[in-house]
Amino acid sequence: MTAPAPTVPTPPGPLILVIVGGSIAAVKAPSVLRRLRERGAQVRVIATDAALAFVTELSLATAAAHEVATDTTWFSPRPDAQHLTLARADAVVVVGASADLLARAAGGHASDLASATLLSVRAPVLWVPAMNEKMWTHPAVQANAETLRGWGHRFLGPEVGAFGTAGEGSGLGRMAEPEEIAAAVLALLTPPVPQDLAGLHVVVSAGPTREYLDPVRFISNPSSGKMGFAVAEEARDRGARVTLVTGPVTLPDPPGVTVSRIETALELRDAVLNAAQDAQIVVMTAAVADYRAAEAATEKQAKVAGDVTVTLTPNPDILAELGREKGERVLVGFAMETHAGVERAAAKAGRKNADFILLNYPTREGTAFGGDDNEVTLVRPDGSHEAWPRLSKREVARRLLDEARRVRGTAR
Ligand code: CTP
Repeated sequence: MTAPAPTVPTPPGPLILVIVGGSIAAVKAPSVLRRLRERGAQVRVIATDAALAFVTELSLATAAAHEVATDTTWFSPRPDAQHLTLARADAVVVVGASADLLARAAGGHASDLASATLLSVRAPVLWVPAMNEKMWTHPAVQANAETLRGWGHRFLGPEVGAFGTAGEGSGLGRMAEPEEIAAAVLALLTPPVPQDLAGLHVVVSAGPTREYLDPVRFISNPSSGKMGFAVAEEARDRGARVTLVTGPVTLPDPPGVTVSRIETALELRDAVLNAAQDAQIVVMTAAVADYRAAEAATEKQAKVAGDVTVTLTPNPDILAELGREKGERVLVGFAMETHAGVERAAAKAGRKNADFILLNYPTREGTAFGGDDNEVTLVRPDGSHEAWPRLSKREVARRLLDEARRVRGTAR
């Protein structure tokens, strides 16, 4: 009998306290809690009495997988001082932050659980206000926000957009989206990323292309776009202006990145060549279909008896096209090989005039198509190469951009 494999305990994620204020935007709080948990955080939640007029305690507790702290629980007999226990979080985010809650916090009030906890917190605090434009821009509210900023509190939004108050239409005041809120509060806990790509324009292509045979049928491939999105996000976080040209994928637009969604290789070509004009780094992760239908039918084709022959014509090679007018740009390609990988990738880099190619292997489990990890070999046109271990796609993106900086001769 074999001994059971030892279990490696996973370290608990950061503890995030979500304070929900009395705004219509409180209805987004359960999504924020879910997003935080998906990102590995542990969550606790305080709902003010006003918040509970907009969102139920049950939906907050379900999303948090934890009981909700309220003024009722605070005032009920319990062994701990609940505001002090909750204040031990690693970071605090106030969603649906109302003018009143801002005023109570800026005024140092402690008459309700949310305010008393905010007085006791020494961890970073992120306010995500949601209120009508007239209220947000009032000098009283702005002065309170300024007081809180002076204590090191951060703010996200409010954004311009449809606001939930009846009859008020759109305008400043909409709360930021849950995904962005979760990312922003967790970012408070990570050390600042060096802004070593500031001032550069980085263009990234991602995902598959679709080559239509008729209006409802196409040739494509299972590229998920994850590698390209990781490069775009990493470049953005390091200060670059980023354009991401992507084929059809299910990933949402990364905040702070200019996203162009295309379908065909010809559309990809136009968008990439256009964006690349003033780019310093172009990374082609897109799995471009090598061929398209020579003549795509404009009407849906009915089935016929027997075999059908489709004539395919080659698509333009975008990386090679960029390579022909390379200038000062750093060009990075990807390649998939099943055999003689390094030699074939080096020849490909030389042929397309790419500075380097990241070679991956479609047959390795959990990597390449659809996976969160990638195991690549960096291959230069002269055949020199480095095999990287299996890494997250984000880490591959980090190393890729380090190498691009080295090629530019700007790495310190
Ligand atoms: N590429 C491109 N335009 C194409 C095809 C590919 O820009 N029409 C880019 C891809 O984005 C990738 C690299 O070129 O960066 C891959 O080259 P490719 O020749 O397609 O390599 P493989 O996919 O490995 O295929 P093959 O070996 O069949 O050429």
